[in-house]
Amino acid sequence: MVNITINGKVVRATEGEMLLDVIRREGINIPTLCQHDALEPAGNCRLCMVEITRTEWDGWKKYVTSCLYPVEEGLIVSTHTSELHEIRKTILDLLLANSPHSDVLQKMAEEYGLHKTSYEPNLEGDNCIMCYACTRICEVLGKSAISPVMRGHEKVIAPPFGEEPPDCIGCLACAHICPTNVITWTDENLTRTIWKKKFELIACEKCGKATISRDFAEYLIEKRGLPKEYFNTCDDCKRVELAQKMGALVDKAKEVAL
Ligand code: FES
Repeated sequence: MVNITINGKVVRATEGEMLLDVIRREGINIPTLCQHDALEPAGNCRLCMVEITRTEWDGWKKYVTSCLYPVEEGLIVSTHTSELHEIRKTILDLLLANSPHSDVLQKMAEEYGLHKTSYEPNLEGDNCIMCYACTRICEVLGKSAISPVMRGHEKVIAPPFGEEPPDCIGCLACAHICPTNVITWTDENLTRTIWKKKFELIACEKCGKATISRDFAEYLIEKRGLPKEYFNTCDDCKRVELAQKMGALVDKAKEVAL
């Protein structure tokens, strides 16, 4: 264990733990966009920047991305100085210039007193902030169905050659993890469409509701060892079934007690 100081309070942490995790555990809120518990930190959005120093640094300090910075004994951390406020405001200003239509960014920028970007807005921008959360989660799933293509300001996240991605299983992990809600999909009847690829959705055998894509179910059966029958019913029907079983058990216990 190590001792570090965050905003004047001495805090115990596990050596090597990332600073952002310790800060959050202390209930301190700092903005992030590219961080997600399911992903290794990547340091792409820079919003989690904090100020660090040490007593032996004689007043010298530096700014680090807390999601990527492992804690060490004696670290002195500040999370909310006026300089940090300006740094985060500038980052949000730049992000907003590139994605001026993003509700998420607009809301975050407002919290920093920024009502619109001070840079030339890219009105054609698609709200993608290039945090790569989507490609990273797809890689975690062992699929890598999408990736960055092109360079510079033309760079976009897309399937290979802009065609239906052969490795995509329609799980929606990329869409759900995207912090600015750029990735869209549709579910119509029992067909899901994402990245222009169509997937059959499994219908719950009890209520008929569409559940997950058959490709994703097959992936989970193979990789996670889930039983095939698990996907025959939706989560709601599973809950009802469990409640009924519990109720029957309680009734039985009452009968025995009488
Ligand atoms: S959360 Fe640390 S850089 Fe995005």
